[in-house]
Amino acid sequence: MVQIFLDTANLDAIRKYNDMGILDGVTTNPTLLAKENGNPIEIMKEIIRTVKGPVSLEVVSTTLDGMLEEARRLARFGPNAVVKIPMLPDGLKAIRRLAGEGIKTNCTLVFSPNQALLAAKAGATYVSPFIGRLDDAGHDGMQVIRDTVQIFRNYSFSTKVLVASVRHPVHVVEAARTGADVITMPPDVLEKMIKHPLTDKGLSIFLDDWEKVKRINPNINLAQP
Ligand code: G3P
Repeated sequence: MVQIFLDTANLDAIRKYNDMGILDGVTTNPTLLAKENGNPIEIMKEIIRTVKGPVSLEVVSTTLDGMLEEARRLARFGPNAVVKIPMLPDGLKAIRRLAGEGIKTNCTLVFSPNQALLAAKAGATYVSPFIGRLDDAGHDGMQVIRDTVQIFRNYSFSTKVLVASVRHPVHVVEAARTGADVITMPPDVLEKMIKHPLTDKGLSIFLDDWEKVKRINPNINLAQP
């Protein structure tokens, strides 16, 4: 089944959708943490405690030793921690080493099927192609997802395709049609998936009509026999 992750470090939003039972996980990054008030380490730990599913936490070092050191620390935040490693030559080395240590990784800043293929070969648990940023640059972000899904299928890679940089609900539908494993989205996109003007309009008509029923049957109450 396709999994829905929330792309945010905002605990109120995470709690809101987690309580609806529709959240499979969370992805964060330094930019998302910079938008929140408070200590980023404590925020990451609290997200890990709040969500049952995988939570991606990103390293900020770009050297092999630095990434490994940060990744090992982030992995200790909880059993559901997944470490985001940027798509760099040393990032691939780090992914390989961390896979050997049983630490789950999410290769981030992926913009081509070739980068995704190399991350999968290195042993990444997830790869995150950024479709919105590709679209912004005049490329076809969704084609990168289609190609990556097909390549991983052809060779039975266990690496999961995590569609990132999602900007609107049509991205979500198209990503799900490709058979991608995970779609991570900002809270506003998830909210737009829930809402539909015809749902609101239809509900309003049903409630108005029920008022008419009550005028004829003043004692009627659906909650009581
Ligand atoms: O978390 C990575 C990705 O989803 C970022 O999206 O909107 O900053 O391109 P965006």
